Order: sequence, then C-alpha cells, then structure tokens
Amino acid sequence: MQHAYESSLVTASPWWRPDPGTSLVIQGGHRLAGTYPISGAKNAALPLMVSALLTPHLLTLHNVPANLDVAVLSNLLHGLGVGVSWSKNARMGLSLTLCADQVRPAFIDRDLVGRMRASVLLLGALLARCGEASLPMPGGDAIGLRGIDFHVAGLLAMGASVDIAGGVIHARAPQGLHGATIILPSPSVGATENLLLAAVLANGTTVIGNAAREPEIADLLLCLQTMGARVEGIGSDVLTVHGGVPLTGAVHSVMPDRIELGTVACAAALMDSEILLRHARADLLGAAGPVLANAGVELKEVDEGVIARRSSLGLTGVDIETRPYPGFATDLQAPAMAMLSTARGASAISETIFEQRFRHVDELRKMGANIAVRGQTAWVRGVERLTAARVMATDVRAAAALVLAGLGATGETVLDGLDHLDRGYDGMTEKLVACGAVMHRTTV
Ligand code: EPU
Repeated sequence: MQHAYESSLVTASPWWRPDPGTSLVIQGGHRLAGTYPISGAKNAALPLMVSALLTPHLLTLHNVPANLDVAVLSNLLHGLGVGVSWSKNARMGLSLTLCADQVRPAFIDRDLVGRMRASVLLLGALLARCGEASLPMPGGDAIGLRGIDFHVAGLLAMGASVDIAGGVIHARAPQGLHGATIILPSPSVGATENLLLAAVLANGTTVIGNAAREPEIADLLLCLQTMGARVEGIGSDVLTVHGGVPLTGAVHSVMPDRIELGTVACAAALMDSEILLRHARADLLGAAGPVLANAGVELKEVDEGVIARRSSLGLTGVDIETRPYPGFATDLQAPAMAMLSTARGASAISETIFEQRFRHVDELRKMGANIAVRGQTAWVRGVERLTAARVMATDVRAAAALVLAGLGATGETVLDGLDHLDRGYDGMTEKLVACGAVMHRTTV
C-alpha cells in the first residue's frame, strides 16, 4: 500500500520514487563485507534546507541524503514558493539548489507538516523572513511528548506574538524580531536551530545559553556563516548571533551521518564482519565511540572513512545512558540494543531524552531477545541468537534496529512499517545488499 502523498513528493524531489513494498523480508545469518557509503546526515540536511528561507539568493547543498523526510521538506519549501532544483554527480552526491526569492508563508501544506517534526523549524525562519508564520503542530515519530515550549518561549523573548489554537501555531512579528538572551531549560536540538534561524535576521544580538552542541548544529552555523551571518561559539553551549545582516547565497556540503555510521558499525560487529564505511567520521560519535568500543565494536579511521568490525574479544554487554551531545545519542539507542541482544552478559540501557523510545523492545522480544523494561531503563541479557519473526517498525531508529536484528536472526524476518526506514536513511537496504545482506521489499 502506498500513501497518497507519496506521488505528490515527486513534484519537488524528482528522485523520490517510492520503492515498491511496505515490508522488508530479511534472510538472516549472511555475513557482510565490502564498502558501505555513508550519506549526508538527515538531521543536518533538514535545518540547512530551511535556512534557504533566510535569503533571496541561491543556496546549494551537496551530499543531500535521498530520504523521505528530505522529499517531504523539499515539497513543503516548494509549496512556500521556493525554487527547488536537483542534480546528481559522483563527487558531490545529490545536490539541491534552493531559491527563496519569493516566499508565500500562507501556502503551507498542512498534511506534510504533520508528517515531520523538523517542519517546526519553518516557524523561526518564516517569522524572521516574512514577519508571520502559521503552521499546524508538527508531527514526526511517536517517541515522546515532544513539546515546542522552548521554541515558543525563545521567539516570544525575541518580540514575536505566538498563539496556539485548534492545533495551529500562529506567530507574528510585524515590526521584525529583536535580539534577546535566551537560556534553554535543556539543550533542545530543534529549539536551538529554530532560534538560530530566527536570530540571524533579527535586529541586534541574540545569545542562546544551554544550547545543544550536536554536530548538526555546527554544520548549520558553518553554512549560515558562509551566507554572511555573524555567529560566535560554534560547537559550544553558548551561541551568539549578531543579527540583522542581509544574507547572501552559499554552497555547502552536508556533513556525513554519524547515526548511520554508528548503526552500520553495530551491524558489522553483530555479523562478525568487516565493512568500510566510506565518508564516515568516527570523531562525530561523541561518547558513543568509546561505549561501542567497550561493547566490541572496533572502529579504525582510514583515508576513505572508517573500517568497522567486531573486536577479537567478541561482543560484551555494556551500560548506556542516552544524553545530549557529546553524550551517547538517543538515535543510536535502538540499534545498539539490537546488537547487545546477542552480546555476552548484560546491558543496562537508560533513555533520558524521549519518554517513549522503547517501542522496539516488544518487537525484539518477539525475536527472542531477553529484555525487561523498568521505567526508563531496559535491562538486556544477551541470548545466543535471535530468531526470525514478523515485526513492526514504529520510528526511524526502531526500523534500523529491527533491520539489524533481522540480519543476525536465524530464518526469515518480515519488517513492516518500512516507510519509517525510508524517512531516515538514503538507500540503507540497497547499500546493505551490496555488502552481502539478503533482503527484499514486498507488499505482502
Ligand atoms: N523538548 C521540550 N520542549 C521543547 C523542545 C524539546 O520539552 O520545546 C524536549 C523533547 O520533548 C525531548 C527533549 O526535549 O524530550 C529533546 O528534544 P530535542 O528538541 O532536542 O529533539 P528534536 O529537535 O525534536 C532532534 C532530532 C531527533 C533526535 C533529537 C535528540 C531532528 C530533525 N531530530 O529532535 O532525531 O533524536 O534531536 O538528539 O534533528 C531521528 O532522527 O530519528 C530523531 C528523532
């Protein structure tokens, strides 16, 4: 079954051809070998695309990942009046040129907004550029409450009026935004990005304290700097923006995806295989690097990227606590759990970012994993091996975790809810097949 919206996605992202099949059949037990190219980071590409709204000049992004979230956002931007054009070449990957010489803030596709959390970033950028923005509460993965109170409080401090009624956010700043000092209650990635996008066009200086330090934010700031924005503190938790400078166009290459790197490295270790993760950067993993190393995931940096394999000591249980960067990324929690399900010994995995990010646990249990959840901690006792089952992906990272579980399981796993995988990854199944995995899509 295909969603009706999928055909409309071709409008602004002509490369997006929904792959046939909503389920993935995985024959477990095949070792992996070869080269897996790591794509541009989804969570860097999305805010970078939104930054095009801040200038009437051309913004060209290289190394854009061809995934469903990118297709949805390019359509949202197209609907807002932004010119969207795509090209592809071997060196730069997929490139996207955006031209927001005209912006029509009222033309927002509510259905598409409802499909993606990152659409909340349109709020800051549209408000800064057009003085008004009106969008439905953003959708996205059901992994927790995912409030927008930090975003709203920051925009209010910058002089906006914000009113939420009937599930729609109406924000206005007819006289323009002004600089402010904003201390975030916790280092929210989305709120930091939204307020940065607003701050570069606001009059005066904005200081964001307790800002998120994820590498994707540094990537956004580097691009904004190339566009002429004056920013200080890149990589730190205090970001200063001297706003009000008209922005030019820019050319920027999206950083490699650290979550895809960690996920496929877990797959290599799980399958006792060796894979070259081309274009990967291990330094972006933060605390996840040493934690995965303790679990038996060996990463070696080479000129072309990173070689991932299982350590000679085998896989061992480790304790994990997800934290804002540079802590262990919540987006790696589910894939790491899938790998640790067959590690020697026990692991305690605590999720501190999202309240409902253990929905993959029941699916892993169907495959024979021994996992007990108490509060925000999952206690994993490694079993000899997982066995195939029919399982359901409930979010992007749960989908990747279940792909890993299927690779390692005995028998034929069927993974439903494949659109979650497509939302977050550029051709993950094809890239794994090229490394020797045996899997195919199906509609059954
Ligand atoms: N929060 C609030 N109020 C706010 C904002 C956030 O209470 O106004 C809470 C959230 O409910 C959550 C916590 O703060 O409990 C962290 O949320 P954050 O804002 O940092 O996350 P996000 O911006 O919604 C991004 C990524 C997520 C990733 C998180 C954490 C994008 C598009 N999404 O989400 O990625 O898990 O940061 O690193 O960048 C994914 O790719 O699968 C994914 C979910």
